Amino acid sequence: MDEHRVQYLKDLGITAWVRREWTYTSLATGATGTPSMDVNGSRESGIAVMGWPELEQAVTGCTACGLRAGCARTVFGVGARQAEWMVIGEAPGADEDKQGEPFVGRAGQLLNSMLAAIGLKREQVYIANILKCRPPGNRDPKPEEAELCRPFLQRQIALIRPKLILAVGRIAAQNLLNTDTPIGHLRGRVHQLGNIPVVVTYHPAYLLRSPGEKRKAWTDLQLALRILNGGNG
Ligand code: URA
Repeated sequence: MDEHRVQYLKDLGITAWVRREWTYTSLATGATGTPSMDVNGSRESGIAVMGWPELEQAVTGCTACGLRAGCARTVFGVGARQAEWMVIGEAPGADEDKQGEPFVGRAGQLLNSMLAAIGLKREQVYIANILKCRPPGNRDPKPEEAELCRPFLQRQIALIRPKLILAVGRIAAQNLLNTDTPIGHLRGRVHQLGNIPVVVTYHPAYLLRSPGEKRKAWTDLQLALRILNGGNG
């Protein structure tokens, strides 16, 4: 959105949420420090230096957007904190909201099978979502919700320093890559988040509805494997 449009909307009393770039410097360093607010009281700079325990606590206690009031539990993320692979989805659904763990429903079972197909156990990767709280009725995340939740995922990525990110589904891919490009155009090539390669594939929930697309997802997984094994796609 251009600056003039943002100003017009401001003048009309409308807050325009602009999807921001991921901060590559904070992605590149896993260094921790004392969580503190800068002179502007920036929540984001506080989160950017948190270690795992503070980060988990901050997510559990977060009420920055309205979603926490309507969800049972926050869904922080699960898996190996030294993982080479990071899988990023959209947001918790009903099962994840109950259990506090990402991808535990039917889509999660398919995700486990997709990982197994490339020789990975679920425990070997780190799985997280764009949003830590379930949107009501599983609606798409709103831009302002994604923006307020972004520092948490950004910090998880910085602490893990994965060798590859697999973005599953349109919402994950578009938010991570800061684009509105349709998923069909994002998959099949390698993107970069700072110095981390990102491969995009279909969401397992979509694959459950459209099993004919599983072949394409398989191609995406093979691309990711090649990247991780030192190929350039
Ligand atoms: N879909 C997602 O994108 N994430 C989950 O955790 C579950 C379903």
